[in-house]
Amino acid sequence: MQYIINYFQYIMKYLPHNISGYPRRSPLAVANRIEKYIVGKHVCEIGSHKGAISLALSQYASKVTGIEIHKCLVYEASKIVDNAPGGLYENTSFEYCDITTDSIPAADIYYVWITPKLFNLLLRRLLDEKPDFKGKIIFAFTKMGVTNPVQYLKTMGAYNRFGGEVITFDINSPSFYVFNGQTYRDKMIKTYSMSKSPHSKYNLWIIDRDEYMKNKLTVNHPYENEWQHLCSTYKSLT
Ligand SMILES: C[S@@+](CC[C@H](N)C(=O)[O-])C[C@H]1O[C@@H](n2cnc3c(N)ncnc32)[C@H](O)[C@@H]1O
Repeated sequence: MQYIINYFQYIMKYLPHNISGYPRRSPLAVANRIEKYIVGKHVCEIGSHKGAISLALSQYASKVTGIEIHKCLVYEASKIVDNAPGGLYENTSFEYCDITTDSIPAADIYYVWITPKLFNLLLRRLLDEKPDFKGKIIFAFTKMGVTNPVQYLKTMGAYNRFGGEVITFDINSPSFYVFNGQTYRDKMIKTYSMSKSPHSKYNLWIIDRDEYMKNKLTVNHPYENEWQHLCSTYKSLT
């Protein structure tokens, strides 16, 4: 049975999406869910791709900086800002940055959806190396078929060691396409990016400096080897 499902998913990957129909992944679902953390703040989206999430965050944040390793994506996202009518996204900008080696811009809040393998590295770079950063880091993570995100996150080491909050929600929900009647902003975002997410649930792991430091100092964790390895890899890169 699993074999048939896998095969079906494989075929579906190569069929064109009906990107004008529901359900589709909505960047606003993320923005709405984290509104309370980002309102009036400078948010840095790490790995901003074509900019959809950053643009959605820009309606709540005072400033958004999207950083991305692929220059062509930085260019595409910047083009949306430049072409938006009436300075719609004037608080948003995109820049090139490789988070493993370059200096990460200062911000009040970081939002990131990247491989969990980089979670520890990011904690180190944002919390250990930026003593002035007092805000939260919001890590998004997905895993097809996972019904218990906390359980899954625990298998990845960083959460188990450092604690924090986990929230789960559906990003394919059509209801998130309307925000206070402002469908236009989301329409702009939709035009440039999102197709239906294959992940049924989207998960966020939210951690702040206090939680991280407390547990870093007190919890002697079996993932210490992985942690040391990541730190030494990072050091050898810089
Ligand atoms: C899973 S995608 C998330 C895209 C977007 N944030 C979203 O939620 O739709 C991860 C993004 O991180 C970028 N990325 C991967 N490694 C990176 C690195 N070392 N530095 C900066 N960006 C990176 C990828 O190019 C990709 O755009």
